[in-house]
Amino acid sequence: MTETLDICPLSDLPPGAARVVEWEDLEIGIFNCEGVLYAIEDRCSHDNGTLAEGPLDQAACTIECPRHGSVFDLRTGTPKTLPAYVPVETFDVRVEDDMIKLEVE
Ligand code: FES
Repeated sequence: MTETLDICPLSDLPPGAARVVEWEDLEIGIFNCEGVLYAIEDRCSHDNGTLAEGPLDQAACTIECPRHGSVFDLRTGTPKTLPAYVPVETFDVRVEDDMIKLEVE
């Protein structure tokens, strides 16, 4: 069943910013890439690195795992470079009345 979580006002997550939220046993990273929001599981599929702590490339819409450097596409959760090769989960995120809303299920 889908659940919608209120995350924070959009002004609290400006372009270039990331935030991690916990939901059940998941940690989910939410990223603002040049004004577009993306959400992916905040756990690298290689060895559990915390993706949201890595460098965000807004122009490429990617995040680099701080542990061993795999670069993930925030739009799809797909790793673009090794050592990770398995995609991470993505989540729908949107803004309503200036509030960031995250869909989880
Ligand atoms: S834990 Fe992310 S690349 Fe190894």
